[in-house]
Amino acid sequence: MKKPAIALLIAVAAGCAPAPVIPAPDAAMAAKSGEKLPTLQKGYGVYTTQCSRCHEPMMPSDVSDEDWHIVTPGMAWNAGISEADEAAVLKYILAAKQ
Ligand code: HEC
Repeated sequence: MKKPAIALLIAVAAGCAPAPVIPAPDAAMAAKSGEKLPTLQKGYGVYTTQCSRCHEPMMPSDVSDEDWHIVTPGMAWNAGISEADEAAVLKYILAAKQ
């Protein structure tokens, strides 16, 4: 038990805390958000691959719903993804925040 805590302390002290884990969709997330699980999985897949090419993907909960609605279309254009993929990413992000 002690070793991970020490490793974390060193990482934080060195200014490189481990990146937070982007939550993977599951049945509970789908049920809570009212979205279909395959849609959320598609959005998660695009988010963790296409949206992490230029920067670390942000934690969905670190940005307000309103800002996600504003930022995502521009970033989808940056990423060159389809409108369907953009819609799935936004659905996933908003579901992951709930
Ligand atoms: C081609 C490179 C590129 C890709 C691909 C990309 N981004 Fe970005 N992203 C940027 C840059 C550069 C910034 C910082 C400047 C800015 O805000 O425009 C940024 C900033 C952001 C921010 C912070 C915005 C803010 O105002 O604080 C979010 C959130 C974000 N990106 C989400 C995404 C999502 C979601 C995707 C996938 C659909 C994505 N990004 C794909 C380049 C990219």
